Amino acid sequence: MSPTQSSAADVVLEADHVTKHFEISGGLGRDTTIHAVEDATLQLRRGQIVALVGESGSGKTTLARLLAQFYPLTSGQIRLDGEPVRTKHEFADREYYSRVQLIFQDPFGALNPQKSVRHALERALKLHHTFNGREELEQRMLELMERVNLTPAADLIDAYPHQLSGGQRQRLVIARALAVDPEVLLADEPISMLDVSIRLDILNLLRRLRDEEDLAMLYITHDIASARYLANTVQVMYAGQTVEGGPVESVIQDPQHPYTKLLIDASPDPESALSAEGSGDLGEPPNLADPPAGCRFHLRCPFAMDICKTEFPKRSELGNGHWTHCWLHAERPQPTTES
Ligand SMILES: Nc1ncnc2c1ncn2[C@@H]1O[C@H](COP(=O)(O)OP(=O)(O)OP(=O)(O)O)[C@@H](O)[C@H]1O
Ligand SMILES: [Mg+2]
Repeated sequence: MSPTQSSAADVVLEADHVTKHFEISGGLGRDTTIHAVEDATLQLRRGQIVALVGESGSGKTTLARLLAQFYPLTSGQIRLDGEPVRTKHEFADREYYSRVQLIFQDPFGALNPQKSVRHALERALKLHHTFNGREELEQRMLELMERVNLTPAADLIDAYPHQLSGGQRQRLVIARALAVDPEVLLADEPISMLDVSIRLDILNLLRRLRDEEDLAMLYITHDIASARYLANTVQVMYAGQTVEGGPVESVIQDPQHPYTKLLIDASPDPESALSAEGSGDLGEPPNLADPPAGCRFHLRCPFAMDICKTEFPKRSELGNGHWTHCWLHAERPQPTTES
């Protein structure tokens, strides 16, 4: 099913006009507010992958962590299966984590170096399931390892993280996330720290999980080519603001926001799913402790108009699910005439 055909019923997890400001205490009354995510809306559907792209510091991880209930929102709402998620607690409860799992960039950092594969999987499985004896538990661990191609499972189950390759470690992290039978995987740059030669294997694993297990997935990346390879839809962030989104081919082949165009032009090899991080010169992003008003891209935008400096435009629908927040596409307010 194409993203435009999918219905609201497919939506598992959504961020609805979500904002996150971090308050940093600088001492001597010099407190700072970091405007990390501004009014972001994003929907994750069953059996679909949304790629979230944008350069460093654009708020991708913050948005993923808000979806994972890592910290409270400043404003907006997160809904799981249409139900607003409570935000009064600092951390989400176990029930939430059994449905929404976050996978980090660095598999080594995510694993306890002192604990074996068996320990990592056993702990995750026992937190959310009960087993009739050791044999059943053992069987489930081996099945999980097979599911993510961490094989030969019987040999690797007693290995420690340092005895695994980078790719095997990331497979273990994914297996551990799957142990709780989640509906949503939030994968934060899951291949960026892996050797280029194994990136495609991990992307293919994520793709299989989406297709065969109907998982809803967020895939965060700097790399346009891997977003194109993996995702159904893409959403582009710049300095905390979401600037464009839609079906992946439409956005990448026919970008409408000047920032998306710049990002794609700076992408090293648009045809390769294995490209390294973007190397083009994108210039300096604004300081999020004191972000510019209006569209935050206006300082770098070759088409910036006066209105871009004061007001962030509403979302303009461009057809077939493609949209942008850009004054080049939005209806501008009529100038008031003095009588
Ligand atoms: N816990 C925090 N406290 C204060 N500021 C934070 C915190 N987490 C993130 N930020 C700030 O919020 C902004 C967005 O950061 P975030 O990590 O979400 O960006 P990102 O798009 O994931 O970047 P990268 O591609 O480098 O991972 C940055 O300015 C960052 O310094
Ligand atoms: Mg990040």
